[in-house]
Formats: sequence, C-alpha cells, structure tokens
Amino acid sequence: MLSSPGRGLFRLCLVLASACAALQSAEQGNSVTDPLNVLFIVVDDLRPTLGCYGDKLVRSPNIDQLASHSLLFQNAFAQQAVCAPSRVSFLTGRRPDTTRLYDFNSYWRVHAGNFSTIPQYFKEKGYVTMSVGKVFHPGISSNHSDDAPYSWSIPPYHPSSEKYENIKTCRGPDGELHANLLCPVDVRDVPEGTLPDKQSTEQAIQLLEKMKTAARPFFLAVGYHKPHIPFRYPKEFQKLYPLENITLAPNPWVPAGLPPVAYNPWMDLRQREDVAALNISVPYGPIPVDFQRKIRQSYFASVSYVDTQVGRLLSALDDLQLAGRTIVAFTSDHGWSLGEHGEWAKYSNFDVTTRVPLMFYVPGTTALLPQGGEKFFPYIDPFDSTSELMQTGTTKLFPTVLAPFYISSSSA
Ligand SMILES: *[C@@H]1O[C@H](CO)[C@@H](O)[C@H](O)[C@H]1NC(C)=O
Ligand SMILES: *[C@@H]1O[C@H](CO)[C@@H](O)[C@H](O)[C@H]1NC(C)=O
Ligand SMILES: *[C@@H]1O[C@H](CO)[C@@H](O)[C@H](O)[C@H]1NC(C)=O
Ligand SMILES: *[C@@H]1O[C@H](CO)[C@@H](O)[C@H](O)[C@H]1NC(C)=O
Repeated sequence: MLSSPGRGLFRLCLVLASACAALQSAEQGNSVTDPLNVLFIVVDDLRPTLGCYGDKLVRSPNIDQLASHSLLFQNAFAQQAVCAPSRVSFLTGRRPDTTRLYDFNSYWRVHAGNFSTIPQYFKEKGYVTMSVGKVFHPGISSNHSDDAPYSWSIPPYHPSSEKYENIKTCRGPDGELHANLLCPVDVRDVPEGTLPDKQSTEQAIQLLEKMKTAARPFFLAVGYHKPHIPFRYPKEFQKLYPLENITLAPNPWVPAGLPPVAYNPWMDLRQREDVAALNISVPYGPIPVDFQRKIRQSYFASVSYVDTQVGRLLSALDDLQLAGRTIVAFTSDHGWSLGEHGEWAKYSNFDVTTRVPLMFYVPGTTALLPQGGEKFFPYIDPFDSTSELMQTGTTKLFPTVLAPFYISSSSA
C-alpha cells in the first residue's frame, strides 16, 4: 500500500490515534480490545538507505525485520529538511506554516498556537508517556523541556554522553584527538565508555521493563541521534562497508541554473576539523572523491549502528512479551544528501533530504499476533551474514494488511 505523495507524516496521527480509540472504547466498556501500547522510534537525519527500501549496500537487518511485519510507506516526506520544524510539525500534526517554525528559534505554544502534540493526546487519554533521547528538538523550540510537562508523564531522558558528541574525541591518523566529521571510535576509549544511542536503548528497555506490569498503557518515544553528524559510532561498523565497495552519488553535479537560495553550502560539515583541513571551496566544493567515499561509508556505518540499537529495543519488547500488544511506529525527521547535486547536508528541498522511512507495525493488523513463546523480533547481528533472516528476499516490502485499520471518527 502506497501513501499519496506529500501526505506522509500526517498519517502518524491517524494510525497512532487508532490505539487510543481502542482505549476509549475499552473505557466505555463496550470492547473486547485492550488498549495497545505505542513504541515510537524516530531517527535523526535518516534517509531510506535501508534494505527494506531496496538499498543493496546498507545492512539494516533489524529495521528490515520490523518492516516485514509492518505497513511501509514508500512516499513519505518530511515537511521541511530541518530537525526542529520537522519534529514540531509531525508531533503536532501541523505544517510549519501553522506552527510558524522554520528554524530553531521559537516555541509554537507561545508564537503560533497552543497546539496539542501526539504524546500529549495519549497522555490525556490515560497513557503513561515517556521520551528517551532526541524526540522534540532540544532548546527553545520545545521550551528547553521537550514540551514537558504537556507531552510527558515523566521527565524526558537525555543520555549523559551526548555532551561529548562535538568535542575532540576522534582519534586522527596523528594519534591526537580531534573534533572530526568522521569519528569511528573504540567505545571503551570514549568518555563514560558509552555512546548516546546505546544509553538511550538501555534507558528505553528499563522503562519497558517497568511498564510490563503497569496497569496503564504506555506511549514510549525513543529518539536516536545517529546518523546525524558527526559520524561518531563504534568503529567495528566500518568493517561492514569496505571503501572499495562504496559507490559515489550517481548525480554529483550542482544543477546548471540552480538558484543559489536552493543550495545549502554545508557549513556545519566544514567546521569539523577533518573537513576544514581539506580547504574545500565555498559554496560548491567539490569534496575530494576519496573523502566523499569516506563520508558515505561513515553514514552507512552509523545507520547499521542505529539498526543494532533498534534490534536490541525490539528484541526487549519481544522478551517482555509486549510485542503482541504494542504498536511500533518508525520514522525519521528528514533525510540527508550524500553527494547528490553536490550537496552534503539536510536543509535543501531535494527529495534525498525530504524523503523519510515510515512504517507501522500494528499487532494483529499488519501482522498476525505472535503466538505464546514465539520470537517476533529476534535481534539480528548485522555482522552475521549467515543468519537466515539476513538473506535478501525474506523481507516482505508490502505485507498483507489483515484487517482494516480501526480509526474511529472521534479520534481522527
Ligand atoms: C495550553 O494547553 C494546555 C493543555 O493542552 C493547557 O494546560 C494550558 O493552560 C494552555 N495554555 C494556554 C495559555 O492556553
Ligand atoms: C516554558 O518554560 C518556562 C520555564 O520553565 C515556564 O515558566 C513557561 O511557563 C513555559 N511556557 C509554557 C507556554 O508553558
Ligand atoms: C564488496 O564487493 C565485493 C565484490 O562485489 C563482494 O564480493 C564483497 O562481498 C563486498 N563486501 C561487502 C562487505 O559487502
Ligand atoms: C589548506 O590550507 C592551509 C593554509 O593555507 C595549507 O597549509 C594546507 O596545506 C592546505 N591543505 C590542503 C589539503 O590543501
């Protein structure tokens, strides 16, 4: 089933509201349906470079496995390829023209309207709502509180190791530490011996454990930071992508006649020490092809790293026997140019920056209910190429929807 272009992320509200509709009818005592929990996964700067979207190079076995049980949208587009406006847009179900946020500098409740959010909606219907990692964009655009207390039942969690993301923690060829763009690390060597997305997974699993026996349903949002720059990820993931196997963008040229306003000169990249050392011409570059390959390698490695985190999270959902009563929504705030049109950034309106992955697993609807004891989301190691589930062809891109979505008119 394909979404109509341009409507992509607005569907979030509709599908997620179906869980809430079940709760409402349960409250009215006229339903046999227990309310479903919601696990909402949002990844930062992830374009659909995933096996389930037909990418032949990227290893994303855990997300592919989720896709094989989900309704997957091919034409989902963010409203804007910038974190804060996109997140405020899909979390309020309103376009940036309504939230009046096109940058990072205002809070919609004060500057546009006191609009409800998806988690707030669930909270007001009796759900326990929880935020882990980057869900709302931090800072003024969510009132320096991730829109707490309106959206969340408990204080939002941010991984403590996030504060090292932009400092000198990347070992360069000179043996010194740098603030680089390309930052494969030995996790044992970095401050606190961990990375933000690993911490977020651990926190999210702890919350799932607490919620397993809770009387109320939950809405748990988990926001992963990678593959946002800098590409700071466990270095073993580089091995999945030998440089000689990395292709370049098929259309690396800045289009002739492109209005300068449509082009973003990727200043955020140029500030990183390794990129600055290349003295790349402003605004159009180009970046030397060797380095282009390395950027693509590190982006893909970061995607596989996030995939393992998603795998651990889903596997925990399974182990806790919550997979049969939890909706899983998976998306990203926008994409990222990997050299197409001479761009290495979000910010533009090219489709590589606006198109996002979007999928919904609704137990009993997009997939059969798992049987007792059955593993629905076993963790798959992307390094284990012998795993049967890694073989191409086992992921159903267009799963059969077993029953129509239950969307009550009052909740739409
Ligand atoms: C905004 O909405 C929230 C609940 O949705 C409410 O508690 C708050 O009072 C409202 N603020 C204003 C200024 O109307
Ligand atoms: C934003 O946060 C400040 C400081 O916590 C608080 O005083 C203010 O009421 C918040 N704004 C809204 C609209 O809730
Ligand atoms: C790299 O490409 C070669 C040749 O196509 C292929 O045999 C090999 O499996 C690839 N390696 C990886 C890790 O994908
Ligand atoms: C970049 O410019 C600096 C200062 O002009 C120079 O020392 C360095 O060699 C240049 N690096 C490259 C890769 O051209």
